[in-house]
Amino acid sequence: MFYSEDVVEEIRTRNDIVDVISSYVPLKKKGSNYFGLCPFHNEKSPSFSVTREKQMYHCFGCGASGNVFTFVMEYENYTFPEALQYLAQRAGMELKTRELSPEEKRQADYKSLLRQMNKDAANYFYYLLSQKQGQAARNYLEQRQLSNETIKKFGLGYSDKYSDDLYRYLKSKGYKDEDLKNSGLVTIDEKGATDKFWNRVMFPIMDVNNKVIGFGGRVLGDGKPKYLNSMETKLFDKSRNLYGLNYARTTRRSEMIICEGYMDVIALHQAGFTNAVASLGTALTSNQASLLKRYTENVVLAYDSDEAGVKAALRAIPLLKDVGLSVRVLSMAPYKDPDELIKALGAEEFEKRIREAKSSIMFEIDKISAEYNQNDPEDKTKFQKRAAKRLAYIKNGLERNNYIEAVANQYFMSQKELTALVNEYGLTIIEGQEQTQQKQNEYRNRKEQKEENKDQSQKLLLTWLVNEPKLFENLSGVITPRDFIQPIFYDVASRLFLQYEEEKKVTPAKIINQYTDLEEQKQVAALFNTNFKMEVDPENAEKALTDIVKKVKQDSIEHAMTQSKDILEWQRLIEEKKKLQNLQLHL
Ligand code: GTP
Ligand code: MN
Repeated sequence: MFYSEDVVEEIRTRNDIVDVISSYVPLKKKGSNYFGLCPFHNEKSPSFSVTREKQMYHCFGCGASGNVFTFVMEYENYTFPEALQYLAQRAGMELKTRELSPEEKRQADYKSLLRQMNKDAANYFYYLLSQKQGQAARNYLEQRQLSNETIKKFGLGYSDKYSDDLYRYLKSKGYKDEDLKNSGLVTIDEKGATDKFWNRVMFPIMDVNNKVIGFGGRVLGDGKPKYLNSMETKLFDKSRNLYGLNYARTTRRSEMIICEGYMDVIALHQAGFTNAVASLGTALTSNQASLLKRYTENVVLAYDSDEAGVKAALRAIPLLKDVGLSVRVLSMAPYKDPDELIKALGAEEFEKRIREAKSSIMFEIDKISAEYNQNDPEDKTKFQKRAAKRLAYIKNGLERNNYIEAVANQYFMSQKELTALVNEYGLTIIEGQEQTQQKQNEYRNRKEQKEENKDQSQKLLLTWLVNEPKLFENLSGVITPRDFIQPIFYDVASRLFLQYEEEKKVTPAKIINQYTDLEEQKQVAALFNTNFKMEVDPENAEKALTDIVKKVKQDSIEHAMTQSKDILEWQRLIEEKKKLQNLQLHL
């Protein structure tokens, strides 16, 4: 970890969870809790609760829960260090990072110089667009139906007609030739300085933290090259950034749309598709695929409908699938790209096409079919063989059969014959692998079910302890952290018991701090928010508590028995288990 526990805890306590979440979600006070519409799933009546006392939130609808760090990590898609940085800043704290080596410091300083330079350039281009010399560019953007709001949101600008206009501006801001050379924005040789961009509409490219790292520049109207892009620099790595991701990363939509051009991204955002991104004038890379995987499980490809677009899509599909994304492909026909489709048919039609987007496999087969003349029997057979081969690669049997059915229907083949053909291509091998897999799965499922029941009682007990800390007194001598079998439960319980021993109260939000991985945070937070009825009348509550404790204790003893080979220890455990029958707890 970069930061000490004390610092993390101080940041947490200085950011009251109700205040922080209120700035994202309107909350209403009800009793000792605050309620609002859950930002993590779609709902019409509020089931998202925030508790000042616990400094935690919990959604009774979708189960989302955590502390203030979890919230900003989920909502803003921040990593833990980013969340720390953000909340420290919000509380007006200066967050000291680890000491950097002189070389690291030099590099960091240099990056920040380049960042400043790009920011200055973006501001300058934006300013020029509003000036007299920006008239033609303004007209151009208007003709492309971009609103002023959109122009502002994406910080669009204009680079002047003179070949060293930006150079002179940046010089006047005090930048040195040496550094300007490294910015990717100007070239300097014996003949003098030349800007990379002139007389173009400027698209600043931002990283996920909204910092300008480079530019794309488009000619006004027709002309070549249509787009120019900043050269790669220490700051601008084209393979690791995506245009529009700074906005798309906080989208509430369940998928991301990948398109080809800057204008497509902008048109989509303007039409309400705030989940659109594009690669930066190059083919999609696997780094970009991994980057996307941080924010979503599903992507929809909205590439151009021309040959280049189809090729690009076919290349992108395996990269995206390799990182575990599910991929669908949107049909643009008869239009060229998202921008044109939306202009012609509107946002609703685009929405419809997202819903109807083909799975990447059907898209691939569709493209294979286009290579063959379906009216020529010989060609048709070739196509069918290639399609069958593609289908044979689908590992899951159910999925494969569904695709066989779909392909047979679409291409007028008999399903039986297609199945036979797929079989020829190694179905038997795959099936064999699968059967063993299936047996293993069944075994695992039964075992998992048992484990789940165990987990459930432990979770209930932890939640109950957090809600009513005086229970620690009732359970003293009966339950210890050791009784929580799963490592993470044990870890959490140890911290909880210790907190109570030292402070006579518990602070679950502080325990969540100990975990910097978002998934772990959510898992731990869920332990404190197991759904159970607190409204049980006192009589039933005592019985419920006794039952839960008995179950936890019994599982713990049985677990100990599987771990021990000592006969005396066994006898002791059996005794303990017998005694457990008479356990009766009182509240
Ligand atoms: P508009 O005509 O403005 O609608 O462009 P588009 O968004 O339809 O872009 P297009 O499909 O022509 O190109 C997609 C992306 O490829 C652009 O956003 C650029 O990043 C890149 N690109 C296009 N033309 C060029 C070029 O001439 N040179 C370079 N380096 N990149 C280009
Ligand atoms: Mn276009």
